[in-house]
Amino acid sequence: MLEIQGLTVSYHGLQALDGISMHVDAGEFMAVIGANGAGKTTLVKTIIGLLRPDAGSIRLNGQEIIGCSPYELVGRGIATVPEGRRLFAELTVRENLLLGAYLPRMRSDAPRRMKKVFEIFPRLSDRLNQFAGLMSGGEQQMLAIGRALMSEPQLLILDEPSLGLSPKLVDEVLAVVAGLHTAGRSVLLVEQNVQMALRLADRGYAFSNGRVLLEGSDLLERPEVKQAYLGM
Ligand SMILES: Nc1ncnc2c1ncn2[C@@H]1O[C@H](COP(=O)(O)OP(=O)(O)OP(=O)(O)O)[C@@H](O)[C@H]1O
Ligand SMILES: [Mg+2]
Repeated sequence: MLEIQGLTVSYHGLQALDGISMHVDAGEFMAVIGANGAGKTTLVKTIIGLLRPDAGSIRLNGQEIIGCSPYELVGRGIATVPEGRRLFAELTVRENLLLGAYLPRMRSDAPRRMKKVFEIFPRLSDRLNQFAGLMSGGEQQMLAIGRALMSEPQLLILDEPSLGLSPKLVDEVLAVVAGLHTAGRSVLLVEQNVQMALRLADRGYAFSNGRVLLEGSDLLERPEVKQAYLGM
């Protein structure tokens, strides 16, 4: 469904991704792991049209999407839970959710979409008129996921959703992500929480310095992963 080839991205001449090739199949749960600065967020931003690569291709269902705006890509079925959540603190829960369904055809259908989000996160429906900035960290992450789900994406990309959450909330949030995958969505999960991410995912890629170091469905068993990421 998503096919990336030879993706090279730089910031003012400094290379952050160096010829990344990877793919996410329809209905697949894919994890991307890697140390700070490995290029994970750069990958996410490039997929969703916030960064323009120097070289490479990104195909969604066979069609090149480099050059598409973030807005267009939401319409094509890609939604993101960005690093650091990026909620609008001074807007309410309801307003933040509506921003996830801002395309006209989604807007007119927003109440039904919102109801589906509340089935996953009942807590959000109790706080519809609360300012997003006053929600707890866990609630904010749920709202960020809920906002992404408002566009009913075929591919959901999450950039470190567990960051800053207590272990219990990490379990809760990642269980929701696993549930979304079970319900048929393709997932691309970027996580520092390597063990959990790889356990949940069908397959994973380990990034290092802007390159794919390892790829497979057995990354947790690999000595390089155990050593570099799990301290074993
Ligand atoms: N806006 C920017 N301008 C210049 N350099 C940047 C910018 N954003 C990221 N970089 C650099 O690109 C490289 C990759 O950064 P990126 O944010 O993609 O890493 P990451 O894997 O997401 O790290 P983390 O786990 O800390 O979020 C780093 O060396 C970083 O310093
Ligand atoms: Mg990052």
